[in-house]
Amino acid sequence: MALKGKVTVVGSGFYGSTTALRLAEYNIFETVVLTDIVEGKPEGLALDINQSRPIEGFETKVIGATTTAEGGGYEATANSDVVVITAGLPRKPGMSRTDLIGVNAGIVRGVAENIAKHSPKAVIIVVSNPLDEMTALAQLATGFPKHQVMGQAGMLDTARFTNFVAQKVGVPVGSVKTLTLGSHGETMVPVPSRCTVDGKPLSEILSEADIAELVDRTRNGGAEVVALLKTGSAYYAPSAAAARMAKAVIEDSGAIMPVCAWVEGQYGIEGVYLGVEAEIGKNGIRKVVESALTPSEVDALKVAAEAVRAKQADVKDL
Ligand code: 2OP
Repeated sequence: MALKGKVTVVGSGFYGSTTALRLAEYNIFETVVLTDIVEGKPEGLALDINQSRPIEGFETKVIGATTTAEGGGYEATANSDVVVITAGLPRKPGMSRTDLIGVNAGIVRGVAENIAKHSPKAVIIVVSNPLDEMTALAQLATGFPKHQVMGQAGMLDTARFTNFVAQKVGVPVGSVKTLTLGSHGETMVPVPSRCTVDGKPLSEILSEADIAELVDRTRNGGAEVVALLKTGSAYYAPSAAAARMAKAVIEDSGAIMPVCAWVEGQYGIEGVYLGVEAEIGKNGIRKVVESALTPSEVDALKVAAEAVRAKQADVKDL
């Protein structure tokens, strides 16, 4: 299959570099660009990934580019089809994602402005935290249509829920379907009514108490990893989630994925970036897909929407 398209990953920390590696190993993109403000780091990582190509058997070329806050180096990212923004600080043990808002807002705003100048048609996938707010900020800073900017969180949170259910029940992860919506934070909404094991509702397999425990563990999935690592946050599962979203864009696949998307009336929620299921294509979000939830799950989604709406309103001043 002919390789096509260009994807840029902004930020060469563990999240960014792992995302770039996954994207290169898919062997579908012509070019993966990896950037960072640490001089030489993206070039070094790109060289290293390129040297793995003969072993792993992929032809995608990886380009590393050191960038500056003033916009230096962004020419290497020009005309990207997809841009994954990982730039910003990760959490330290005990921090909430919201604690990062001040410092990461400045970084994400600068990156988004520079990306918009060089790649006006790119679909932006934000992963920097706090996720829902940084996604809203990237849309403001780029001035892109809202469908062209989305955030990665639901894919990751859903994968965590699936993994926990599979471990608890003792079945392969492939037997389990779960769904997580809402914010990527305290108002995350794991959706037990949409969880099945080999097609059977989760409520027929686990007790209410067990399900509640798994829901809680999913909500704290990121913090559990941060507490163990002590420096930095998770990146294997997060990068898998972001890379799959970028793949859906370049393949114009129409895959339905839980992502942070602009919601306009679905579930009775208006005008906010929120974790929902959406159909992904070459222009970003084709449409938000509303599915059957229980009344209490819809209520929880509305609570999440109001919590992130308040914080998203503040980002314009950051
Ligand atoms: C997480 O939940 C990095 O926010 C990401 O691990």
